[in-house]
Amino acid sequence: MEKTLNFSEPFLNAEYVSDIENYPIQDKTIVINLDSQKVEIEDFQLQPMKSALFSNSIITKAKSLILITVSEEDFLGQKIQIDEEIIKYSWHHVFDFFNLPHLKNTPLWLSEKETIGTMELNLWYAPKGTHCGLHNNHPFRELHTQIIGVGSMQKFHENNPKTLYQEVMMSPGYTHDPFYSNGGKYPWHQYYAETDCIWLAIEMHE
Ligand SMILES: [Fe+2]
Repeated sequence: MEKTLNFSEPFLNAEYVSDIENYPIQDKTIVINLDSQKVEIEDFQLQPMKSALFSNSIITKAKSLILITVSEEDFLGQKIQIDEEIIKYSWHHVFDFFNLPHLKNTPLWLSEKETIGTMELNLWYAPKGTHCGLHNNHPFRELHTQIIGVGSMQKFHENNPKTLYQEVMMSPGYTHDPFYSNGGKYPWHQYYAETDCIWLAIEMHE
């Protein structure tokens, strides 16, 4: 099965594929493994809930993948193609969804959501230098995959930017390890956009 995801945009193609065999990839593609089994791509084993960047490759067999392509010059965020139209008509400002005072003036936008099984996914966009906001509570488990630009997932001892203690650098095709504990507890954390960035949020609702 192949399906174009509803946050696919002219500058970013996002497909969901399931139950594929000997599936060819040509253009540079971020492959995200949503299954609980690893996936073989050429000589690489893509672990569950991890992602990697491939081109000119064959995916031997996979149950549940997201494939995202953007143009070559977009990958490092040098020429993000998000224009006024997309922000105005298709994506939403974060404050429209999360009515928190500190987000009102944060330049942070989110795309439509897509549901795959018990997961909900959407894209986020923030320009260079954006602190996306410290928080430590989620009613779900979350992971993020970097799509465009370079960002950083940051952890803090307290709800205070000065208490930063870990930064996980995110480059295109990278999914960070879980920040949540086995019991679903989170440290204070935030996403920081080192450059203009687009990333995928994966929420696991189960
Ligand atoms: Fe979070």
